Amino acid sequence: MTATAPRSHRGLFVTLEGIEGAGKSTQVKTVVAYLQAQGRIVIETREPGGTAVGEAIRSLLLQPSPTPMEPDTELLLMFAARAEHVNKLIEPALVSGQCVVSDRFTEASYAYQGGGRNVPGARIAVLEDLVQGALRPDLTLLLDAPVPMALNRARQRDRTPDRFESEAAGFFEAVRQAYLDLAQRAPERIRVVDATAAPAAVANEIRTQLGRLLGSP
Ligand code: TMP
Repeated sequence: MTATAPRSHRGLFVTLEGIEGAGKSTQVKTVVAYLQAQGRIVIETREPGGTAVGEAIRSLLLQPSPTPMEPDTELLLMFAARAEHVNKLIEPALVSGQCVVSDRFTEASYAYQGGGRNVPGARIAVLEDLVQGALRPDLTLLLDAPVPMALNRARQRDRTPDRFESEAAGFFEAVRQAYLDLAQRAPERIRVVDATAAPAAVANEIRTQLGRLLGSP
């Protein structure tokens, strides 16, 4: 893996997380626009995905299937895609001083495979260290909304639900709780944003959090 550059020379790594329908895709644009307005070069990306191999793995992961995938298989595929993403895109961009904004990263593995599929956190931590070394996001914005509200929004999308979107509400309750637990354990790095508010209000809150990260008053 690429060696980690001194913090002061690195770009910023910002990730967005939340259950389906929390409004991540809309708010990724808010983060990108804010950082660009600060004169930064910003790369927008997503997980699973972000590279050719990562996008191929994404198709495999999201494709509905009559046979459930083994939780360990799902976890390993997430981290296989992440290894490509970290080595080919994220680390090189950060080392050259660019900002990376990713729609999901490793917190999603703790929430979905950990909370949703009951994979022990210690197993996930082994892969996190293996694939990422010391790399962690500088800021994770966790868009939080009650499951019924978020699922209602997600299910208004005009396409066939993917393998995760087809899960029952109880799965997403476990995922949401796992996300909130992560935020409680790392409150400085993972900020909970109330995603029940109108998109403009959510965007304002996100700009406030980014201002704090960049040291604005
Ligand atoms: P999305 O990016 O369109 O929300 O879809 C990606 C799906 O993959 C979403 O349901 C969450 C899931 N996922 C995991 O289960 N674990 C992970 O580590 C990541 C990055 C995503």
